[in-house]
Amino acid sequence: MAIRQIAKLGDSILREKAKVVTIFDDNLGTLLDDMTETMFFEEGVGLAAPQVSILKRICVISVDGKTIYELVNPEIIKSSGTQKGAEGCLSIPNRNGVVERPKEITVKYQDRSGKNKEITVSDFTAVAFCHEIDHLNGVLFIDKITSEQ
Ligand code: CO
Repeated sequence: MAIRQIAKLGDSILREKAKVVTIFDDNLGTLLDDMTETMFFEEGVGLAAPQVSILKRICVISVDGKTIYELVNPEIIKSSGTQKGAEGCLSIPNRNGVVERPKEITVKYQDRSGKNKEITVSDFTAVAFCHEIDHLNGVLFIDKITSEQ
């Protein structure tokens, strides 16, 4: 495993649309492991592949530091309710802001072996999922801030 370097605001890769993953091999597993290690090292709760300069639809999330979600080709298929909370981003240090997100979402995705999965998450976990999935479309939380913190 290895710590990867995080792309910072101003790097154009953060504004590009990531590509669908079609090959589920050892390289994907290594990337996922590296992303999780990097997320924990940087004390984040989520990390998307474009943030480590890989333009693929992959993200990792761990809100509690124990449960690790690995999402490949994630897609929000259902959302309900709203919530507002402060967000930050490892690619945008020293900035926080309040963003409105769904209260609960259902996401379909693939695991590291390519198996189709579906999960419903709510509250802050839903916020983290939405934030990371936005990264895959070149969208950053600063685009959605309703008030600075
Ligand atoms: Co982010």
